[in-house]
Amino acid sequence: MPRPTLIPGENRILHGGDYNPDQWLAYPEILNEDFRLMPLAGCNTFSIGIFAWVSYEPEEGTVSFDWLNRIMDRMAAQNQRVILATPSGAMPDWMAAKYPEIRRVDRQGLRAPYRDRHNHCWTSPVYRDKVTEMNTRLAERFGKHPALGMWHLSNEYSGECLCPLCRAEWAKWLEAKYGSLEKMNDAWWSHFWSHTYTSFNTVEPADSTVDGMMVDWLRFSNDRLIDFMRHEMAPLRRLTPDVLCTTNFMGTNGHLNYAEIAKHVDLIADDQYPAYSSEITDLASSGNYVAFKDNLYRGFHPDRPWMLMESCPESPQWCSPMRTKDPGLHRLEMLQAIGLGAEGTCYFQWRKGKGGMEKFHGAVVDHVGHENTRAFRGVAELGALYQRMEGVVGSKVLAEVAMIHDWESQWGYELSSGPGNGRKDYLHTAVTLHRGLWERGYGVDVLGQDREWDQYPLVIAPRMWMLKPGTAERIRDYVAQGGTLVMDALGGVCDEYNRVLPGGWPGGGLREVAGIWVEEWDWLDEKTHRTARSVDGNSLGLSGSSEVERWAMIAHLEGAEAVAIFEDGWYRGAPAVSVNAYGKGRCITLLGEPDIAVVRRLMGHLGRELHLHGAVSDLPRGVAAQRRVKEDQTYVFLQNFTKDRQTVGIGGRWRSLANDIEIEGSHILNPLGSDVLIQLP
Ligand code: GLA
Repeated sequence: MPRPTLIPGENRILHGGDYNPDQWLAYPEILNEDFRLMPLAGCNTFSIGIFAWVSYEPEEGTVSFDWLNRIMDRMAAQNQRVILATPSGAMPDWMAAKYPEIRRVDRQGLRAPYRDRHNHCWTSPVYRDKVTEMNTRLAERFGKHPALGMWHLSNEYSGECLCPLCRAEWAKWLEAKYGSLEKMNDAWWSHFWSHTYTSFNTVEPADSTVDGMMVDWLRFSNDRLIDFMRHEMAPLRRLTPDVLCTTNFMGTNGHLNYAEIAKHVDLIADDQYPAYSSEITDLASSGNYVAFKDNLYRGFHPDRPWMLMESCPESPQWCSPMRTKDPGLHRLEMLQAIGLGAEGTCYFQWRKGKGGMEKFHGAVVDHVGHENTRAFRGVAELGALYQRMEGVVGSKVLAEVAMIHDWESQWGYELSSGPGNGRKDYLHTAVTLHRGLWERGYGVDVLGQDREWDQYPLVIAPRMWMLKPGTAERIRDYVAQGGTLVMDALGGVCDEYNRVLPGGWPGGGLREVAGIWVEEWDWLDEKTHRTARSVDGNSLGLSGSSEVERWAMIAHLEGAEAVAIFEDGWYRGAPAVSVNAYGKGRCITLLGEPDIAVVRRLMGHLGRELHLHGAVSDLPRGVAAQRRVKEDQTYVFLQNFTKDRQTVGIGGRWRSLANDIEIEGSHILNPLGSDVLIQLP
């Protein structure tokens, strides 16, 4: 069975962007120019109508899609596909004025005036009705249009609403979840400061003193968002069951649980800004972070490709300062996404508008109006390369390592007062550990706690603060059956209510797996660090000393071997890294934030021991490599995140699709160079 594509039956890599003809209806010559320029830019897919509600319905009940129809026809005539948006991301002014209930209420109880966007209440029946009516009309009118590629639900759903309607839903949600006040109070430990709730209706959502409740509030807000999104989708599902629905996510945004939202859409799309600019001195570090995010995104729907819905060939206007993008960076950024499983890269925005807050936001078409710009040429060259690499569509990314990521653990950790105070950088450990894998070209699947990881020889579980029911048992089984687990001592601290797990950390039974007991935490400020020294002859092959920043754990060995020990502080001699044999496997525990030097050595050692292969045979530092395979075809993607020429060992014979040349054994990448190679027989 061939793998599904982003748009059923469409075998091109999707390339295009947000197109706002509704802003240009009075300029037919500009629209004509757009249609001349689109194929020149090698673009084939456009998101339309994201903020177009008022142009469809300038007054209540008077709806016309005439302009959209003309645009859709022109798109079809040029064999271009449309990602058609539902326009709920921005309501018309008349609606906000007539139906104040649609406007959100904030944590102070204030209802927002009409301004901005992404600010409607999740519950308002009036808005839900309006959205159903609008989406029904759109689906009826365009559901069978040959240009329609997929649905783009609203835009960057986010935020919370505390209006009376949402609060009534909150009370219902709590009652449904807990059944009794007693259970709820127990789950939140709310006897603290006399917060024992005597009614589901008195639970004030924004009260950071009851952190378990705040975790639930984030869960509730996420559920409200999903509920609204499903409501939006209902007429689309009914009238156009074969057209896939997506919505644009925002990277690793810490307030939303995208792993849950993802379960309700058909395919995954991300808005990626600003991945790279001249402002970033350590491009490889950004490259690793983006790769972590992409590995997470691919895992939401592993059986389908994902896409960049928005990215930028220049700089977003909101960057501070707004630097240019170095030559080469744009292609590198886009090929990185494709290498990690995307099959479409679209831009915000196709054309710069004449006014409004985004008039200087980077685009494919500049204010100058013609195609002779650096950005346009870059996009056009990439479009031509995409045509040469169409065979990539339907291929699969290979991954040998699993990493566990959990948004609710992030919430629980961040909402707990004490740990990490002043530096609540939850993702830091995960991203550092990921870098050790990324630099070796190992494929990594970043997965939620509820996913399967038994088949991976190596599982990395950074800051698994909150153990969901069953997770500890599954981890125990995984290790007992022969798996290698790397975790840090911030794993297994709380249960799913953010209540501390009793009996010593790592809790929930992981103490036995780790063979250690953490007695105290030392949260280090920016001026303080500790030194960890490897123990001679340790079984992980670690050597030398390294710095420990941010946090250190003071632990007792309970059967584990100390691989490294702290050299300073009153806990000099205490383990800094431990390894414990458990069943047929082992658990490696980091007792302080690892620095990249240790991570490199550790991943190198584990890679050799576990026979991990990597995408290429020799990868210089700062260059990333990914492998995608389809039947008998193998593609390797390379990105040089350094400003030096780099030589990559690739073994065998390949064709470089960027340069259209044949190469053997090794490949030279220019500064910020990138390429796609296809293996030759
Ligand atoms: C977001 C939005 C777009 C646009 C861009 C600007 O991604 O979805 O509408 O505002 O930001 O960078």
